[in-house]
Amino acid sequence: MTKNHEVRRIGVLTGGGDCPGLNAVIRGVTKPAQDYGMTVFGILDGFEGFVEGKARELRNEDVSGILSRGGTILGSSNKGDPFHWPVEKDGNIEIVDRSQNVLRNYKAWELDAVIAIGGDGTMHICKKLMDMGINVIGVPKTIDNDLDATDMTFGHDSAVYVVSMALDRLHTTASSHHRVMVVEVMGRYAGWIALHGGLAGGADIILIPEIPFSWESAYDKIHQRELQGKRFSLVCVAEGAKPVGGEFVTKGTDAKRTDPIQLGGIGKVVADNIENNTGKETRVIVLGHLQRGGSPTPYDRILSTKFGAFAIELASKKVFGKMVALKGSKIGEVKIEEAISKQKLVKLNDQAVIAARAVGISFGDE
Ligand code: F6P
Repeated sequence: MTKNHEVRRIGVLTGGGDCPGLNAVIRGVTKPAQDYGMTVFGILDGFEGFVEGKARELRNEDVSGILSRGGTILGSSNKGDPFHWPVEKDGNIEIVDRSQNVLRNYKAWELDAVIAIGGDGTMHICKKLMDMGINVIGVPKTIDNDLDATDMTFGHDSAVYVVSMALDRLHTTASSHHRVMVVEVMGRYAGWIALHGGLAGGADIILIPEIPFSWESAYDKIHQRELQGKRFSLVCVAEGAKPVGGEFVTKGTDAKRTDPIQLGGIGKVVADNIENNTGKETRVIVLGHLQRGGSPTPYDRILSTKFGAFAIELASKKVFGKMVALKGSKIGEVKIEEAISKQKLVKLNDQAVIAARAVGISFGDE
């Protein structure tokens, strides 16, 4: 590795909701940094720490042994958007712009660039910071896998693993009690976790936001299975799924966040309707944050390490304004603008959808 005497001080932060693999990226950035002659500063609690001036130097010993650890040693926040900063005033939330604090801290810490690990919200902030003259490199994280510019975000595989394990376990109890088990999974407006988790866990019905479902079709599938002597069914429903002509089911709103809508609750609606309309005893399981916690899978550890090491390599070459991305089997970079231009949603002709249909899984649309 060649020493780079111009890019010396790199900030790293983890923004938005956490997921397995964040620590592996931090390690992937920090360990090689020394060989490039760089010092890494961990900015605490995502952009919140950037606004409030919270950072600490990361040395090799700080990142030793964290490869397999879930969460983030730096802390994270999904309420710290510097351009949408919530302030409590007279019992109300007022939104103000605190981006100048970020610029001030960037200069005070004498940073040459910042590696921001996050999802679409983080990448949108990165674009605005770039326009203010801050050098940024993005690393795509989210269990939702909804960033179009990369074939895969890290964290997704770990979430899918949790869903498939849950379905495996529910399979045995569903079959013993001849019940329908409805599993609600995360994913926001994208159905990737439900699609991949449902496929891996052998769900009988997968309901995703991209394919609005008909109630009758879902009931039919359960009846058909009954006629075939299969007296139980597993339904994997994405939190953003909705029936044809219906609305998202939400559990609340949070004005402090850029996207205030909090999805959740469709699982119970699906379970109640199935029980009332098929006569089958039904239970609902909401996997929630189990999908975000715990150790990353080997796939996510490898992808995260590659992403981290590639990000610091880009910094050493002074390639800024890019997001690290996986295309096929290669890691490369795309412009941040490209990274935020399009959300990646499940297409009807996705091979996973085709394969699921081929093995008899219903999407509630036939
Ligand atoms: O984007 C990741 C994600 O886990 C979504 O799948 C989910 O809708 C949301 O974050 C939950 O956010 P929170 O942790 O704030 O409840």
